[in-house]
Amino acid sequence: MATIDASLSSTSPSRRTDWLARAGTFCYLTIAAGQLLFTAFILLFYYTATLTGNFAGWNDKPLIKGFVPGDIAGNLFFAVHVLMAAAITLGGLVQLIPAIRSRWPAVHRWNGRLYLLSALILSLGGLWMTWGRGTWLNLTGGIGITLDALLILGFAAMAWGAARQRRFAEHRRWAIRLFAVASAVWFMRVGYMAWGIATGGAGIGKAMDGPFDLFLAFANSLLPLAVAELYLRAGSHGTPLARKGVAALLCSRRSRHPQPAARAHG
Ligand code: HEM
Repeated sequence: MATIDASLSSTSPSRRTDWLARAGTFCYLTIAAGQLLFTAFILLFYYTATLTGNFAGWNDKPLIKGFVPGDIAGNLFFAVHVLMAAAITLGGLVQLIPAIRSRWPAVHRWNGRLYLLSALILSLGGLWMTWGRGTWLNLTGGIGITLDALLILGFAAMAWGAARQRRFAEHRRWAIRLFAVASAVWFMRVGYMAWGIATGGAGIGKAMDGPFDLFLAFANSLLPLAVAELYLRAGSHGTPLARKGVAALLCSRRSRHPQPAARAHG
């Protein structure tokens, strides 16, 4: 199956096994499996509650605010946010499949527009919920998710601009960076679950203010971004050793099925 790395492998002069491309495919497939489960959770839990008008049902899982009786604007923003969450999660996965790009360019273009629109709505709406509605447990967490929002907005603008000017190699690089930071919310869930299993929850505070919480508040976007950057650099001008090193790194990041949203990320 062709995935994100196919675009890089096509630029490789070597006809020997391209471990970097294979590792990219493996990494994509493991992330896709986890994000499909996340999408299913959003559809089953949030779509069911929202589209049937049972807004109070959002609070059946632990949230910072969620549904607040009488807060029409806040509840509306939350509803739009969770509805768009499924679009961006599924849309990002579809967007990175080269077979769709080459065989159905119109699907890639329209899904890309929807993806960028959902990135815009989730980031701006998320910023309003965080600072306007006051949905944060501690300042570090609030700053961490704000950084993520700014990265999403910046990378989305770069990816869009490059596509408009038909600079497709550059567009692909910004799109992969965008995917990394737009997946931060999902990476956070994976991080909590993996850490919880490995340590029994050491360093996790009641108000998400333990050392691990503070680390993950930034690592959920910066760590995937760093790995994406290594992947891109190794693919464009890495030595064979560097390419194998990054390939090994990608394969060591195993897929872990995310727990359906242990806590909100605001
Ligand atoms: C771009 C990808 C994003 C996805 C897929 C996403 C997904 C979600 C989901 C599923 C929820 C419901 C609560 C939960 O189950 O955890 C939620 C809530 C929330 N999100 Fe996001 N989100 C994204 C980006 C952002 C950004 C960038 C911000 C802030 C700048 C943000 C701020 C919030 C806030 C404040 C809540 C409300 C939490 C509460 O009331 O307890 N989100 N998001």
